[in-house]
This record gives sequence, structure tokens and C-alpha cells, in this order.
Amino acid sequence: MRLDVFFGAHLMTPADIQGRVLLVLDVLRASTTVAVALANGARAVLPFESSDEVVARAKQFERSDVLLAGERKMHMIPGFDLGNSPREYLPETVEGKTVLLTTTNGTVALAGLQGARDVIVASYVNYSAVSAMIRAAARGAADVSIVCAGRDRQFALEDAACAGRYTRGVTKRLANVRLNDAAQACCLIDKRYGDRLDQLFEDSEHGRALAEAGFGDDLAVCAAVDSHPVIPIYQDRQITKLGPDRER
Ligand code: MLT
Repeated sequence: MRLDVFFGAHLMTPADIQGRVLLVLDVLRASTTVAVALANGARAVLPFESSDEVVARAKQFERSDVLLAGERKMHMIPGFDLGNSPREYLPETVEGKTVLLTTTNGTVALAGLQGARDVIVASYVNYSAVSAMIRAAARGAADVSIVCAGRDRQFALEDAACAGRYTRGVTKRLANVRLNDAAQACCLIDKRYGDRLDQLFEDSEHGRALAEAGFGDDLAVCAAVDSHPVIPIYQDRQITKLGPDRER
């Protein structure tokens, strides 16, 4: 099987997407926020590229059933209910709600991934749950693409490190996995940081920007490996939790 990492959805060809299992990573913070929202009882998260799309879609729901959510330049969009801080997505806030989410990079990356067999939203907070699912897919000979959302179409250190952790989780247990060069580089980055995710976020541009913007406490949430063990699956333009009520 193949496991390839891409530093941005814009670098992928249709062959890297179609029929493959895809992991989308935006560790800081969109994919972490999605996992936290679903683990805390949100009914679904619907990703959008723009805030106008969120507002238009919200009109198709009862106002009390939805939360308008998202950020621009890391801060909550004026008039929305929530920003993109995972700490806002508390059970009492999100339980039973549909979250309409737009973020600068994460939800845009998701929107570009139609045609994949399964698209999974991955982060550190749901590492073991997603990793087990990926290994099962790999045993079934599915090829895997890991898409790092990055930042403004640029490489993001934290997404690469997390991609390396997922890649190593597969190669440690399965033989004959062919990696592209990006996947091999990600493994080296993950080895370099190991469990020192605080250092990883301190070294990353986006981690530093979040701390400077007053979101330093989000970094600890994003670094809490396995704290929210859900498998968020993106199908038919919505992300829900894989489980007994949502089989693949
Ligand atoms: C994004 O999608 O660009 C982000 O998650 C940015 C952020 O809010 O940290």
C-alpha cells in the first residue's frame, strides 16, 4: 500500500484523492476543534469556505439548532456564536447542535476533497482512535493520503509532525508500506519532537501567533493526545462521528 503526505490539498492530483482514505490535519486549530465539538455532543460539523456560505446555510435551519462558528485571522467572526477555539466547544454549548464552521485553512482544505473513499479529520486529540481506523484500512490494502492544511498554502510544522506520528503508527505495525518523500520527512519531524508538543507549538509559526493573539491556552488543548477519542468522518459535505449510528 501507499501512504503519501501532501503539504496542502492544492498539491494533490485526482489520483491522490479518488478511492483513497484521506486524513486531513489542521492541528492548530480546525481539526482539533472538530474533534472536540463532536466528542462533546455536536450532531454534526458542516465545513464552509466562507462566512457568507455559513450565514446562507444557517437560514435552512431553526436558529436554535445551529451554531455559526469560525475565525478570520484567528479571531471569531463578528456576529457568529463561536470562534475556532476548542475551549469554546463545551458540552453545554454544542450538545445536539449542528455547527456551521468556516476557518482560514482547515475547512477550505476539506472543501477541496470530494471523491475520496473516506475523509477523516485528524489531530493529536483523537490520535489513537483515528490511527486504529487507518491501520484497519491499510490492512484492507487501501492507499492513504494525509493532507496537511498548513497555513496560507504554506508548510506548517505542527501539521507535518502530526502527519509523521500517524505515518509512524502505520509503518511500525505494517510491512510493505511505501511512503513518499514528504511522509518520510514528517516521520523525522515527529521523531525529533516525540512527546514534546509544547516545544513543537513553541517552534511553529502558527503556535507562536496563537499565543501572541491571546490563545495560548488553546495550545495545551491541541496537545492533549487522545483526550477526545472520536473518528470524525466527512461525507456528503458534513462531518459526523463514526460510530454505531454512522457506519462506513
Ligand atoms: C485555520 O483553519 O486556518 C485555523 O484553524 C486557524 C486558527 O484558527 O487557528
